[in-house]
Amino acid sequence: MTLVPVEAEKKIDEIIARYPVRRSALLPVLWVVQRHVGYLPDEALAWVADKLGLTFMDVATTVSFYTMFTRRPLGRYHIQVCTNVSCLLGGCEEIEAHLKKKLGIGFGETTPDGRFTLSEVECIGACSWAPAMQINFDFHHHLTPEKVDRILDALP
Ligand code: FES
Repeated sequence: MTLVPVEAEKKIDEIIARYPVRRSALLPVLWVVQRHVGYLPDEALAWVADKLGLTFMDVATTVSFYTMFTRRPLGRYHIQVCTNVSCLLGGCEEIEAHLKKKLGIGFGETTPDGRFTLSEVECIGACSWAPAMQINFDFHHHLTPEKVDRILDALP
């Protein structure tokens, strides 16, 4: 079985062609691979390293730096709670405690039904509307426990 589908590799080749140096395409290539594989297991990192002429460690250290990349499968909804300064001052600890209690999981864990993964992240660029979280690609801000309940209850 091919780890990276043919259509994804075609897209990756197009991305690489935009850069004068192959390694410069690392972040967008990782993004495409993660979108198609679902996460970035060792095999995916090795594939990317080979594709870009990098070492496995070059790729692994880059992946470990960015919270938008994941080395493990995620739930259907990836809840990313910002705990950086503005959100801390805005009350993210209450949001964190509420989510952990409501979902029965901690940061870095997925609910047994595979529906939710909860993660702690650094600033997501919504400081003016703290506290904030991101669910998959959607931002939610000015959070309260009641608002969190409404958001989660409305998910299909
Ligand atoms: S500190 Fe939370 S969004 Fe910036």
